[in-house]
Amino acid sequence: MFKHVEYSITTWILQLTGQSHKTSCIKGGIREENVYQKSSSSEELLGLINRILLLSRVKMVDYKVTVSTVNIATATTFNNVYIKLVGTDGESDRTWLVSVKGALSFVRGAVSTFTVSCPASIGKLVLIELSLQHIPLFGEDSWFPAKVEVKSPEGDTYNFPIYQWITDSEVHRFREGTALKVSEDNHHLGKYSREQELKQREENYRWHVYAEGIPHCMKAEDPTDLPAEVRFSFTKASEFRFTALTGLAELRLKGLAESTENWPDIDSINRVFCCKQTDILDYVQKHWKEDAFFAYQYLNGVNPILIRRCSALPDNFPVTDDMVFPSGQFSLADEMKKGNIFLCDYKRLDGLKANIINGKQQYLMAPLVLLHKTPDDKLMPVAIQLKQTPAEDNPIFLPTDSEYDWLTAKIFVRSADFNEHQLNVHLLRTHLFAEVFAVSLLRNVPSVHPLYKLLVPHTRYTLQINFLARARLISETGSFTLFAASGGEGLVTLLQRSQSSVTYSSLCMPEDIAERGVEDVPNFYYRDDGLGIWDIIHRFVQGVLSFYYKSDAEVQQDSELQKWISDIFEHGFLSQACTGIPQSFKTVDELVKFVTMVIFTSSAQHSAVNTGQYDYGGWMPNTPISLQLPPPTTKGTTSEATMLQTFPAVNTTVQGMATMWLLSQQSSDFVALGQYPEEHFSEEIPCKLIKDFQGELEVLSAVIKARNKSLEVPYTYMDPTEVENSVAI
Ligand code: FE2
Repeated sequence: MFKHVEYSITTWILQLTGQSHKTSCIKGGIREENVYQKSSSSEELLGLINRILLLSRVKMVDYKVTVSTVNIATATTFNNVYIKLVGTDGESDRTWLVSVKGALSFVRGAVSTFTVSCPASIGKLVLIELSLQHIPLFGEDSWFPAKVEVKSPEGDTYNFPIYQWITDSEVHRFREGTALKVSEDNHHLGKYSREQELKQREENYRWHVYAEGIPHCMKAEDPTDLPAEVRFSFTKASEFRFTALTGLAELRLKGLAESTENWPDIDSINRVFCCKQTDILDYVQKHWKEDAFFAYQYLNGVNPILIRRCSALPDNFPVTDDMVFPSGQFSLADEMKKGNIFLCDYKRLDGLKANIINGKQQYLMAPLVLLHKTPDDKLMPVAIQLKQTPAEDNPIFLPTDSEYDWLTAKIFVRSADFNEHQLNVHLLRTHLFAEVFAVSLLRNVPSVHPLYKLLVPHTRYTLQINFLARARLISETGSFTLFAASGGEGLVTLLQRSQSSVTYSSLCMPEDIAERGVEDVPNFYYRDDGLGIWDIIHRFVQGVLSFYYKSDAEVQQDSELQKWISDIFEHGFLSQACTGIPQSFKTVDELVKFVTMVIFTSSAQHSAVNTGQYDYGGWMPNTPISLQLPPPTTKGTTSEATMLQTFPAVNTTVQGMATMWLLSQQSSDFVALGQYPEEHFSEEIPCKLIKDFQGELEVLSAVIKARNKSLEVPYTYMDPTEVENSVAI
């Protein structure tokens, strides 16, 4: 929030004493408006005027001021709170808010009413100023006000959304809740505060290059560098200890974290599952070897964005009819024509330098997986080649191979999938882009702008969780760097390769599904639920934005909006026009589509790729984060013993489990998609659109819950009640 430290003499005093309310001066050739004129004798003058008013029995007018404090731990202040009302025709005095509640006026959840008196109406309210005066007895505390409502003597009600921490004794200004684009913000006080706010925000939120070739991030050396309003709440911070050690303790695996031994048998892995089972994890443990379940995860596991329809085999994957249809019941050409063949290609991992863990070289493959949709609508894997270049020592593994040849091939695929999923699908395509959308919003769009009001709830906690991910997961000593196959040198390379494969259409679900040719795949709940959510978000965004933008020209002329997208293009997509990411907005429709993508990515898409991490990754054989032996180069050399030697060591396994458990936890201050506990909008139409949005999400949730009842493995990750409003974990 923007601040100033000069207290002005109130306008009405200035008016009464014949002084101008505002002055202007020329500084360095630039005309500067000195809105808040300083007066060293303001207190004296105020006392004098008050006495004059009393004596002359001037009738004061009263403003009823209702202040709400957010109902979360530590939101309370016991210090003195001051307010000044600023209107088009003047200002109130800086008034100490005192009520019969005394020191309890601003405790968490309190709604307290006060009177602010002025000698005359101050016109239409433009902004308020709030400040704390610390009382030595109570020490310095931080206050988290929710909103202020002011009823004027004319009977009008003005809402001031706050939802920001006040931690110091400086003056903080907050605008009246009616959303205003820059062209509509005509009052000089409004314009001034808008400029000041953006100036302050540009200082508070700075871009930083973490590594070349990946999205820029928020500059911060420590979580305390983050402005208070974007930091975790006390509840979230105290629940969330972002270290694998916490996860290990919770899972009672601490004793295993130092063991660099191999797993002696599957039963030993079983025994570490003494607690924290989920229904799906239990299912995974029982079914991880099955082909149908292996294929199912491409549709409804944590990486549902890789599978594509295959209309021609890639040159480097020489699968033949004899291999996949040995009894001659189908031909690949026919099945491809019918749209029954699918491909999962991990080419991004090709040649990636694998990690060294416990002093041992690890192995990470870049497989190709061919899948067939059978006549009974089941998706089944039919061929796996573990390296990109076909060769004699790179056999194509088949379901007809020996049990351990085929299972080992699938284990290498699952391990490749973990690394592709974590860095590309999860970190880059949700966390890092969500941070870019947020930082650009905070730097370029003031809180009175309709886009800020629409998007700020979808940025909650994103900057802090990403800071923690950089510090504790992918830093030199981070658990991903130490224990994942793509940790170390390969990490940035994989992120860079992923970044260069991102397109705008791949971030927009309806286009992505069409481009991948997976519109008709049966039992694809990620697609069904995701498209439902996309449509609902799109209708909501269209309603809100077309209320504020009546024509394409209004979009084109909104300099703050244009700066938001141009910064996203530059800092998020590294000015690559080939991504298809807009560099500017020309139409309302373009804006609506992009904002839909931003909300979808930050909520539903993140939930789809985040929430199931422990469900599908908690049982290590289904998702080994690294592998210790190279894949077989000929068939017939594998056994249970080689599989156990291939699996990650005990410490690597439990670190992976602990991290995935931690990242799948829901915080008790979780806010579901479409819930807006912070009321940023004041106007009737957007408030009604929010209600409609919530109603539609509720209906979709009921449909998903009903469908899940009949499923062997329920798909809950895109149930709107389970989707968080922002990337917060
Ligand atoms: Fe996440």
